[in-house]
Amino acid sequence: RGGPRAMESLGVLLLHPMNAYLEQELDRRCRLHRLWESPPGPAREGFLRAHASSIRAVVGNANYGADAELIDALPALEIVASFSVGIDRVDLAKCRDRGIRVTNTPDVLTDDVADLAVGLAIAVLRRIPQADRYVRAGLWKAKGEYSLTTRFSGKRVAILGLGRIGLAIAKRAEAFGCPISYNSRSEKAFPNYKFYANAVDLAANCDVLIVACLLNAESHHIVSREVIDALGPEGVLINIGRGAHVDEPELVSALVERHLGGAGLDVYEHEPFVPEQLFGLDNVVLVPHVGSDTEETCRAMAELVLANLEAHASNKPLLTPFSG
Ligand code: DGY
Repeated sequence: RGGPRAMESLGVLLLHPMNAYLEQELDRRCRLHRLWESPPGPAREGFLRAHASSIRAVVGNANYGADAELIDALPALEIVASFSVGIDRVDLAKCRDRGIRVTNTPDVLTDDVADLAVGLAIAVLRRIPQADRYVRAGLWKAKGEYSLTTRFSGKRVAILGLGRIGLAIAKRAEAFGCPISYNSRSEKAFPNYKFYANAVDLAANCDVLIVACLLNAESHHIVSREVIDALGPEGVLINIGRGAHVDEPELVSALVERHLGGAGLDVYEHEPFVPEQLFGLDNVVLVPHVGSDTEETCRAMAELVLANLEAHASNKPLLTPFSG
């Protein structure tokens, strides 16, 4: 193992078609297997049995990770490389037990995800999608007036999770004159931002609550009904973290009953399924988990996945080992 041609012998299992450039390069540089080409059931079991001994790497993303069942089916697995920063779909305990390395794609996507968080907050408050639909439907010409919206500048912005992405959101919101508060497991102090020890107090003291933490057992359903009620009928929830950070049925009923002012959602509990009750509401903006989906960032994420696999195959230190 090792040496300049080490990648050529690396058996890689790609879990989902996530990025054309990444797939093309994996195909060119390694021995690539595509899991989705064998449908779940006996065909997949046969496929895994046939190739398991040669698969040393798994490449997944935010929605398709190496779970316990897959890891157990791959005795030669050495590394899981995720085309995402969040790796809640990877069974980290099992990887630790088996000595399987785990990498993700931090930093390169921070700006795009932060841009989307602020974009969603503005879209909800200024009702940009509704305004677009109003113009396209010819209602401007017909009715002449459009109802007033709500300002984003100066609103009290609270951030759940002040890691790389949370901080990038804070920096952007500061530029809009927004006072920032936060709750974070990090010990680091941020003297310009107000710390709240729990999510309920954070929500009770803000206008816009943005979820930007990692998903783990501690942060699962951190946005509970109590947090939603604390945010209240004037408050807006933005989620660019993971759907499971929020108790989704409670969020839906709060929005339907107007106990919550609005929501901008990039992520959902059971993607790609989005609760249909949200479709008819004018106080929500819905996008399909596209926080990092720009040409620039996806290319950088693909390069990072490839560089990590290359480093692994050459017995070099990984560029971005996951450090949860
Ligand atoms: C990730 O990479 O984990 C994010 O979900 C991107 O939006």
